[in-house]
This record gives sequence, structure tokens and C-alpha cells, in this order.
Amino acid sequence: MKTLLQINSSIFSSGGQSSQLADQFVAAWHSHHPNARMILRDLAQVPLPHLDAQRVAAFFTAPEARTPEQQAFAAESDALIDEIKQAEILVIGLPMYNFGIPSTLKAYFDHIARAGITFRYTANGPEGLLTGKKAYVFATRGGLYAGTPLDSQTGYVRNFLGFLGIADVQFVYAEGLNMGEASKEAALAEAQQRLAMLAA
Ligand SMILES: Cc1cc2nc3c(=O)[nH]c(=O)nc-3n(C[C@H](O)[C@H](O)[C@H](O)COP(=O)(O)O)c2cc1C
Repeated sequence: MKTLLQINSSIFSSGGQSSQLADQFVAAWHSHHPNARMILRDLAQVPLPHLDAQRVAAFFTAPEARTPEQQAFAAESDALIDEIKQAEILVIGLPMYNFGIPSTLKAYFDHIARAGITFRYTANGPEGLLTGKKAYVFATRGGLYAGTPLDSQTGYVRNFLGFLGIADVQFVYAEGLNMGEASKEAALAEAQQRLAMLAA
């Protein structure tokens, strides 16, 4: 049985355009995989704390040497890693806020990047340990950035996932959402067509 993990990062939760596109993809994909296990992580509903020195120290301390506080910090990260490890399919709703990814998604990434657990350093350089997964990213923007140097999200998210071993990543864009109704409708219709194709 396959497992799909959907991560929404819109501040508007399920009402966000990125969440809605991700939902539409997930519904279409689920119709082709009715027995799959579906997990939804909504980072607006359940935000994660920023990484700080205490948390990083907990990650870097050997499990048997952790204080109770460090055990709790590590357990939060371990649970997120267990969750993503179980998923063969990863779906990310990715709005653009102030030229970057939502800070909630950055906090999530900071919790799942753990040396020796989700990546390791080898003589040939870093090696991602979250292999065998496919990711679909639904990127929504008010303006137009795809394929330009101002698209700070695509390269970053692709590199980050690749670092963890997730190299098969498809991006679906809905851009120009704040450039008038016609632009918005056309962008969403194109994204919907693409997501239906990808889900099939
Ligand atoms: C706080 C905030 C910051 C935004 N910053 C940008 C931006 O830098 N560039 C852009 O093209 N659109 C920007 N937008 C527009 C969003 O990218 C657009 O509305 C997108 O659909 C948001 O996705 P969501 O509905 O899933 O949250 C911003 C929107 C908000 C609410």
C-alpha cells in the first residue's frame, strides 16, 4: 500500500490557492490509488518552532546522553522524519510570500534535515537517505517568476529535496494570480490541467 504525504504551507490553510491545487492533485491521485494511505500536514494549523541553538544541540547529542528537554526536541523532529519516511509520494503546497518560501515550510525543512538520519556525508560528498520518493510541488504566485532569476523557490526546494535524496520532483505553477481575474483564471486552469495529467 502506497502512502502519500501532503504538506500545505499556505497561511490560509486549506483556503490557500496552493492548498487547493495540492488538494485537487491529491483527490485525482487518490482516485487512481484508492487503497493508499493519505496523510495531511497543515503547517498553518500546526506550525513548527524555528530552529534554535537548543534544538540543534539536541539533534547533535547522542540519544542516550540527551536531557529530558533534548529528548522532547529530538522526538518532535524524529516524528516528522518517521512520517516522511513512510511516504512514497510527497505533495507540497508552496505559496510565494515576500519572494521566498513560507517560513513555516522552512521550519519544517529545518526539522527534517538531520545528519546521519536523512542525509550523510561520504567521501564522495553528501548523500540523501530519503530515497525512492516522488514529489509534486504546487507553486502559487501573485506575479510571474518561473524561469527567471527572481524565482528563489524552485531551485531552493529542488536542491533541498535532492540533498535529502528526493530527486524526482515535478513543479506545477499557477502564476499571475494577482494580475487580474483573466490572468488568475487562465493560470489556475492550466495548473489544473497539468495536475490532472500528472495524477493519471
Ligand atoms: C504575505 C504575502 C506575501 C506575498 N508575497 C508575494 C511575492 O513576493 N511575490 C508574489 O508573486 N506574490 C506574493 N504574494 C501573493 C501570493 O503568492 C499568492 O496570493 C498565492 O496565491 C498565495 O498562495 P496561497 O493562496 O496558497 O497562500 C504574497 C501574498 C501574501 C499574503
